[in-house]
Amino acid sequence: MSHKIALLAGDGIGPEVMREGVKVLKAVQDRFGVSFEMTPYPCGGEHYLKTGDEWPDGAFDACKAADAILLGAVGHPDARLPNGDLAGAGVIFGLRFGLDLYANVRPTKMYAGVRHKIHDAFSEVWKPGKVDFVIVRENTEGLYTPARGFLRRGGIEELAVDSRVITRKGSERVIRYAFEIAKRRHGAPKDGKHRLTCIDKSNVTAGCQLFRRVYDELSARYPTVERDYAYIDAFTQWMIRNPEFYDVAVSTNAFGDIATDLASVLQGGMGVAAGGNIGDRHAMFEPIHGSAPKHAGQDKVNPIAMILAVQMMLAWLADRKGDKALAEAAVAVDAAVASVLAEGKVLTYDLGGSAKCSQVGDAVVEVLRAP
Ligand code: IPM
Ligand code: MG
Repeated sequence: MSHKIALLAGDGIGPEVMREGVKVLKAVQDRFGVSFEMTPYPCGGEHYLKTGDEWPDGAFDACKAADAILLGAVGHPDARLPNGDLAGAGVIFGLRFGLDLYANVRPTKMYAGVRHKIHDAFSEVWKPGKVDFVIVRENTEGLYTPARGFLRRGGIEELAVDSRVITRKGSERVIRYAFEIAKRRHGAPKDGKHRLTCIDKSNVTAGCQLFRRVYDELSARYPTVERDYAYIDAFTQWMIRNPEFYDVAVSTNAFGDIATDLASVLQGGMGVAAGGNIGDRHAMFEPIHGSAPKHAGQDKVNPIAMILAVQMMLAWLADRKGDKALAEAAVAVDAAVASVLAEGKVLTYDLGGSAKCSQVGDAVVEVLRAP
């Protein structure tokens, strides 16, 4: 049986990292006897500049019909919609909202051999084995609810409103998803305890009070998962000072967006940070970095984030289809990435190396083919 994968490479470095992701999927086919039917669809800001559309008619339906979706990155500096929004973001939001991908799952794991950059220099503040947590970000409401607009008087923008909508249903399903992950993971590096941290701002906002209430209600059903609470502002400093304490954390949409970029620093930067946008029936996987136009076309950026997005996709598909070969493939891709990073010979500039994007992809594939 062939698994249908929709490929949305997008803009900037998107196509470059997508190429490496596809390389890995081909190696997985050869080694594990699984088969992927991969279909690319153009999309993004550049596509918008050429055609006036963010993606072609039918692309959304094709994504909906696929078994899983892989996305590179969208965004082109010159491509704005008439209302000022980034052209291409409609693809991401079209999928997140249109396919109801309510849980944005973003692991922060530091692999051995990775150094992270602070102050232009490489540092060893955080240690592999100590940084291994997952942030689950609500993905369909909150500050991203499309209930926003301007009040214009005489053509002048006088007032802008963004409504932050938090619903019981939206909170329940993402918090339940996060509890399920926490129940099954290996616990926090510090003490092995299964723990779910509820990140909110319930000292100030009503939406977060509802979110926390729902968290409390659900936590009664997960006696093996320790309850933990953090206001988003305090969380950002605790996460940096004491990452080993965290196992799984759940938050509302915009807080999760910000916290996950910061979290990526703990694992070596955006070049190694991947995420899955997951719903009950569909899922889309992507590196969490953007299209990085200034680095595009040079075969220089780190494809590991994309390869780890592929890894998450394989694990999700394996679960969904009860397919053992896919589950083994997911483990093997993770091991191949870990091995290339631990060797430290083929690394891109962001990790202190001088290898090209395609060379890192080749190195991962080499380990995959001959582990
Ligand atoms: C992310 C990105 C997106 C978001 C942008 C590109 C719209 O920052 O996936 O974290 O804000 O969700
Ligand atoms: Mg973001």
